[in-house]
Amino acid sequence: MAVRGAPAIGLTAAYALVLAAQEAAKSGARGDARLAIIVRARDVLAQTRPTAVNLAWALDEVLRVAREDPSPGALLQKAEALHAEDVAGNERIGRQLLARLRPGMNVLTHCNAGALATGGLGTALSGLFLARELGLPLHVWVSETRPRLQGARLTAWELTQAGIDCTLITDNMAASLMAKGRVDLVVTGADRIAANGDTANKVGTSMHAVCAAHFGVPFHVAAPRSTFDLTLSAGDQIPIEERSWSEVTTVGSERLCPEGMKVYNPGFDVTPAALIRSCFTDRGEIEPVSREAIARVMRGP
Ligand code: MRU
Repeated sequence: MAVRGAPAIGLTAAYALVLAAQEAAKSGARGDARLAIIVRARDVLAQTRPTAVNLAWALDEVLRVAREDPSPGALLQKAEALHAEDVAGNERIGRQLLARLRPGMNVLTHCNAGALATGGLGTALSGLFLARELGLPLHVWVSETRPRLQGARLTAWELTQAGIDCTLITDNMAASLMAKGRVDLVVTGADRIAANGDTANKVGTSMHAVCAAHFGVPFHVAAPRSTFDLTLSAGDQIPIEERSWSEVTTVGSERLCPEGMKVYNPGFDVTPAALIRSCFTDRGEIEPVSREAIARVMRGP
């Protein structure tokens, strides 16, 4: 969790393969032996987080280059190209959210999909940063995001640093805010989007989407093409990471529940495509979120 957030995980793994190539070169290995060292590193890295598909995507992009030329320089060039693509894509994603924002809006976000989760400005948060640069007044509800508290620890920090008006809430306060008309739009990032638009993101996201649908609040997802997994036809095929019980039973050093308590701790949940108003992507906005529209936008012009 030193590096977390789907695009940041992918980019870090891409640079990690560059380090593996450097080690392989230093060891004097050549040809297939050198490639085998890089492939071994790929296999270890691929197992670190199962849900964010950006990890496997970035590793495979770099590995494709390594099969042609396993020199550290060739891999570095590819990793930097992926990084630059993410930076530019974040900005394109942000502009789509910006087009939906109006002065005085209350936006709710969950987990952290900002600069700490990507190579650039972020996905869900990039439009908020662009709005701030333009002087558009907004208020953001920051959902704390139990159990790792990425909202409270990361999003709250990023928005405060940028001078964006924001308020921290516990995850279970969102429905009552929506019922009172105090949320105008919800935007989150994503860790894996299936071909039909079902979207895995930090656990708690689908709860916000269900509430948003009930109260008529538009719910949007922001993600680059590296988050789309068109090999999976629907969200029930997305592997969900199960994390340590200690994330739920303790906060810092403080224990919250009796010893021996049974715990269930999935790191992610899946929001059905039907609850998502649109998807902001580096290839353009997808609305409505349907299998056909996703295939068209991801295919590109
Ligand atoms: O467990 P994490 O912190 O890696 O989970 C991160 C999230 O779920 C983010 O919302 C998601 O990766 C989108 S990041 C642009």
